[in-house]
Amino acid sequence: MSDPKPETAAAPAAVPVLKKLHIKTYGCQMNVYDSERMAEAMGAEGYVLTDLAEEADMVLLNTCHIREKAAEKVYHELGRLRPLKDANPDLKIGVAGCVAQAEGQEIRRRMPLVDLVVGSQSYHKLPAMARAVEQGKKPVDTDFPVEDKFEHLPERPVQARPSAFLTVQEGCDKFCAFCVVPYTRGAEVSRPAARILGEARKLVEKGVREITLLGQNVNAYHGEGEDGTWSLARLVRALAKIEGLDRIRYTTSHPNDMEDDLIAAHGDEPKLMPYLHLPVQSGSDRILKAMNRKHTAAEYIRLIERIRAARPDLVLSGDFIVGFPGETDADFEETMELVRKVGYGAAYTFKYSARPGTPAAERKDAVPAEVAEARLRRLQELTISQQRATQDAMVGRECTVLFEKPGRWEGQWIGKSDYLQAVFVKGEGLAPGMLARVRIVGAGPNSLEGELI
Ligand code: SAH
Ligand code: SF4
Ligand code: F3S
Repeated sequence: MSDPKPETAAAPAAVPVLKKLHIKTYGCQMNVYDSERMAEAMGAEGYVLTDLAEEADMVLLNTCHIREKAAEKVYHELGRLRPLKDANPDLKIGVAGCVAQAEGQEIRRRMPLVDLVVGSQSYHKLPAMARAVEQGKKPVDTDFPVEDKFEHLPERPVQARPSAFLTVQEGCDKFCAFCVVPYTRGAEVSRPAARILGEARKLVEKGVREITLLGQNVNAYHGEGEDGTWSLARLVRALAKIEGLDRIRYTTSHPNDMEDDLIAAHGDEPKLMPYLHLPVQSGSDRILKAMNRKHTAAEYIRLIERIRAARPDLVLSGDFIVGFPGETDADFEETMELVRKVGYGAAYTFKYSARPGTPAAERKDAVPAEVAEARLRRLQELTISQQRATQDAMVGRECTVLFEKPGRWEGQWIGKSDYLQAVFVKGEGLAPGMLARVRIVGAGPNSLEGELI
């Protein structure tokens, strides 16, 4: 007679206890990148990612402070996590990112359920902080440490997507009158070129074919290179030599840092994609001055002409703020006029939000909410119609598509055009990371339909 049960007398081998981490990301692409790197750092501690907060041992909110609504979302989310924490007192809750940086200890005062607070520049310390939480501590770290956090993070694992972000520059010295970023991300710092090239090569070895270089002012990049300081253009050209890397993008740029060598690279570096996000915020010189943007509307338009002369098919996107304190109807009309002149493929439009600690928040000439709302609607009507026109103009054209994932329908794949538009294509043998020539046959407001050539 045989015993169907396996022999269990021997002590089981030690199995590492896997814990589950749920990360919710708000804000810009840099937060997306930071969340990935925090997940990797916690991975080395035995944490695996979960999409469900309900089954997590730790929930981390990677937050954005840019507008009041963005910052308040964090407190709403923390409120929603309270029942989870009540049901599972072992659940750990962390706040990371720009709200953490800006508010630090204040977050714990408002929300005692928070176990740890880690700012954008100190998240390499997250594993140690998580260990401290296990020991009953409630760490808060919003330092701008002298060491480079990237040097203390684990090497990047295999990427799930063929397109990756890579932070090359952080922080901002521009101090636009409305903006919290110089305070939440600190002064401008560029990573050394060799480190970036090393990270890029590893990403490519692991299957990445497109890299988007990130920085709050990415074109202010001035990293240490082997022969002195490198500009962003120099870095782009060095990256373009990496075999297997097919596409390079960068975001976000400031008009005043659009140097000649970068404009030239748009003209003659085929791996640099013909899409540029170049925020202007307003078309009124009076408002631009009050915003401390340090350029005029005419200078911006002249700059666009020069970039388009280098790369005629360039698609532009921009950011706009309406209702900045003191903005008159005439100022707003100048913004509308600038948008008409430039013609954007995409636009991100915002109602001004007063942020604590910024110079503009001190002003007493706020624009009434309903006036700002009406301006926002008019501007959006215009930018949406321009986006639609850009999409429609693609029909009949050929472009290259980098495929990322299967679509909802049998045989359908989703990828990105050179111009960053989502393209749906039906075809045999498509796979993530494939680059193919496609003819665009249909256009919707947010995506295109194409056929393999
Ligand atoms: N570094 C980038 C973008 C920073 S934040 C740049 O210089 O353009 C992204 C966008 O948010 C900004 O371009 C701006 O349009 C918007 N923004 C920033 N602060 C804001 C505020 N206080 N109210 C409304 N929109 C704001
Ligand atoms: Fe903010 Fe201006 Fe710096 Fe952009 S350039 S991050 S808008 S201060
Ligand atoms: Fe927000 Fe911080 Fe990015 S404030 S926009 S997450 S740099």
